[in-house]
Amino acid sequence: MSVTIAKNAGFCFGVDRAVELVEQAAKSGKTVATLGPIIHNRHQVGRFEEMGVKVIDTPEDAVPGTTVIIRSHGVSREVQQRLENRGVEIIDATCPFVKRIHGIVEKAEAEGRLPVIIGTRTHPEVTAIAGWCSDCRVFESPEELENWALSGEVALDTPICMVCQTTSTEFLWKMCGEIAKKQFTNLKIFDTICKATEFRQNEAAALSAKSDAMVVVGDTKSSNTGKLAQICREHCDKVFLVDNASELVPEDFCGAVTVGITAGASTPAWIIKEVNKTMSEIINV
Ligand code: F3S
Repeated sequence: MSVTIAKNAGFCFGVDRAVELVEQAAKSGKTVATLGPIIHNRHQVGRFEEMGVKVIDTPEDAVPGTTVIIRSHGVSREVQQRLENRGVEIIDATCPFVKRIHGIVEKAEAEGRLPVIIGTRTHPEVTAIAGWCSDCRVFESPEELENWALSGEVALDTPICMVCQTTSTEFLWKMCGEIAKKQFTNLKIFDTICKATEFRQNEAAALSAKSDAMVVVGDTKSSNTGKLAQICREHCDKVFLVDNASELVPEDFCGAVTVGITAGASTPAWIIKEVNKTMSEIINV
């Protein structure tokens, strides 16, 4: 029997970097807080809590003289300013791919363009991007974008700059691009989709197709972990979604010769490692 871990299992580059920055700051002896949970994984947040890292909800909760870490989703210009006003050391763990979008919309607005953001209005990444311009529009679907274009709220030759949430699907982005190109005559489009999610999903599909059983590691409440399990089920009959190694049941793997392991974007490497170790013990019994 053999166990294979998907190369892109777990954290993407931006989340990995953010978690690493928290770890470094906590180990350096500073009094550290993160503005919002650094990732949606209770095991990792619990580990940081044990190291003394607090989670605060607003900049006003920050204690002057301490260190506050901005998570990978980023924050608006206004939130950053409020943090600066608190007299704290700021460690900006905004993913560089997200930071790039802040720069694009800020520059576009300074050049007289109206920023248009395609994404989920209430998602922290999108509210943060919107917060780097004084006036922008956010649309969640091609229909919303088209209705707005046809509403006459802005002239069709308005200079527009269109970007999207990093986790948007290629399909949604393509549809929105087609509508925008059809409706507006002075348009700049920046494809700001991050490929990390797509890579992870494609790799999970390929690995599950050649495995007798597949283990998906992650929080059962996480939508991206659920989506990963769903993709694996399309290619493999035995898919087990586990939160951590203790949830693996040896009997589930009877008769399996090849087992694949993948993990959601919020699953730390140490949990994946533990699952791999337990899985190897199960198959060697
Ligand atoms: Fe991750 Fe940054 Fe992409 S946080 S999903 S690498 S935009």
